[in-house]
Amino acid sequence: MAYRLALATLAATGVLILLGGLVTNTGAALAVPDWPSTFGYNMVLFPWSRMVGGIFYEHSHRLMGALVGLLTLALTALLWREGRLRRLGLVAVAVVLAQGVLGGLRVVLLENTLAIVHGSLAQAFFALLAAIALLTAPRGRVAGARVEPALKGLTVLAAALVYAQIVFGALLTHAGRIDLHLAGAVLVFAIVPIVTAPLRRTGDAVAAPVSRLLLVLLGAQLLLGVGSFLARFSPFWIPGEQLAGVALPVAHRLVGSLILAAIVILSVRVHTVNAEPERVDQAPRSHAASVSGHPRSDAASRTPLQQTHAASVSGHPRSEPADERSHAASVSGHPRSEPASRTPLQ
Ligand code: HEM
Repeated sequence: MAYRLALATLAATGVLILLGGLVTNTGAALAVPDWPSTFGYNMVLFPWSRMVGGIFYEHSHRLMGALVGLLTLALTALLWREGRLRRLGLVAVAVVLAQGVLGGLRVVLLENTLAIVHGSLAQAFFALLAAIALLTAPRGRVAGARVEPALKGLTVLAAALVYAQIVFGALLTHAGRIDLHLAGAVLVFAIVPIVTAPLRRTGDAVAAPVSRLLLVLLGAQLLLGVGSFLARFSPFWIPGEQLAGVALPVAHRLVGSLILAAIVILSVRVHTVNAEPERVDQAPRSHAASVSGHPRSDAASRTPLQQTHAASVSGHPRSEPADERSHAASVSGHPRSEPASRTPLQ
């Protein structure tokens, strides 16, 4: 349930970033001059018939922001109830509240710096939700390949560089600083393939496919970046000039979010992965799943070694899955805890 809600919140945030991009690149940021009201109306009561032109982009961005806020609250409440990732949930709520206030203050104070911080924090929030989705995903619990400490460090460095590149992108959009963004692009295009090459070869259920996807995204980002550059800075004619001038940077920003989410997922994965490779379709029947009291674990699927272990833990030779739950509880002292399938972040 938490996984599905995390995915829904992530998807809604993707749409929010898309709408934010439309607000920025159509110049609609100040189409609605007041905040938190909209032309004096309560935000949710503003008439749909008046949502035209720039007002449409700006007001839909606000409504979507409210929806993402509500989804984040629900996700955090659920994580709290389930007793996992509580701190990450609270951080998500703090960021989404800060984002709302920053967006509003940017309208009221007409401050460009606030737009830069708002744009950058939006991407960090998206990446945080991606990490929560990974940590609540059934696939995220599958044990995987061991990764060298040096590669773990490089993955984090790559994530930090991608984030810096996103901040440089915001500086380019709002302050015209192109030098940092171009230098950052060189570094990102150099380090990401260095990280993804060995991770692709691990065959890890998460790291390998995400690494492949990341390379595809990087290729697309190069084309979109060059297109955005030509549309904004060069006198060259490009097809569909006006539309391209909006669509290219909006898509470039969104693909930037996906790149950040992918590299953050890789960083979290290499730091939380459980050890030896284990096939995805075996996961629910694994020892880890059965010790955790997973609903699909059953005594019949255990190897003789596992059966002996379970029996000796519970003190009864024919112990049933119910006994395993009490084993899990006795290890951690909490009836709902899942020690074997937990990652360090959980
Ligand atoms: C992985 C590499 C890259 C990432 C992650 C990235 C990310 C971003 C992001 C997130 C923005 C929008 C920031 C905001 O407004 O909040 C941006 C803007 C921009 N980027 Fe990149 N970028 C990358 C590479 C490139 C490259 C190679 C070029 C072109 C040579 C480029 C050209 C631009 C331009 C021209 C803008 C300004 C668009 C506008 O007018 O709004 N980027 N970038």
